[in-house]
Amino acid sequence: MTDRKPIIAANWKMHHDHFVAIQFTQKLSYLLDRQDTEAVEVVLCPPFTDLRSMQTTIDSDRIPVALGAQHCHAEDQGAYTGEISPAMLAKLTVKYVIVGHSERREIFGETDEMVNDKLKAIFKHNMTPILCVGETLEEREAGGTDAKVEGQVRAAFAGISKEQIARTVVAYEPIWAIGTGKNATPEDAEATIAVVRAAVGSVGGDDAAEAVRIQYGGSVKPGNIASLMERPGIDGALVGGASLDPEDFARIIRFRG
Ligand code: PGA
Repeated sequence: MTDRKPIIAANWKMHHDHFVAIQFTQKLSYLLDRQDTEAVEVVLCPPFTDLRSMQTTIDSDRIPVALGAQHCHAEDQGAYTGEISPAMLAKLTVKYVIVGHSERREIFGETDEMVNDKLKAIFKHNMTPILCVGETLEEREAGGTDAKVEGQVRAAFAGISKEQIARTVVAYEPIWAIGTGKNATPEDAEATIAVVRAAVGSVGGDDAAEAVRIQYGGSVKPGNIASLMERPGIDGALVGGASLDPEDFARIIRFRG
């Protein structure tokens, strides 16, 4: 048995303004009890404009959830119109930053090199990356899943210390399962997660491979979370659509029933 604490993160993407975000946070806190948040680390990754309001709500009501961001730039400051720096996020007590989500890679052209730079910047500000990796349907059908995720893991961790690799959260998200209602079977998810863990070990050593928490993401719902979390290799979930409703998200966090 491992002592990796499960981590379940909400990725709201471009949904919920700061008014909705405050209501959501309060409602979630009402739906969860102490046991839930002791058993599972809960992370909320809202749009940037919600962060300050949520930070205030979480602090003043002492809600045991962590704040995450969905994206950042690698530089501390500069002439990068529209971007947000990791230093700014750290000031808002953001603990986690999603990096390399497939939507960022596919729609906004984020490369493995950019992902690697961002990981370094996030660690520099004592935050923790949630590094996303995963294959397209074509890659899966061509038998390329393992090579794709191994390559993404190695590139992301180039030049990063073993201790930092061990602290990272990795989200394995098959791209064909995101927002489609099709999720990988728990067996398939666990098999690819084992490949991801081995790739982490090849760059960070056995201790990092054992310590790193690896989530599954892609159409996680209240109805399928328990079967995923039953697999010993799966340490949590990165949840998009089903994290937008506090009741659904609370049911996902309380997957033990
Ligand atoms: P989904 O999104 O749960 O809506 O499939 C997951 C993600 O993109 O992180």
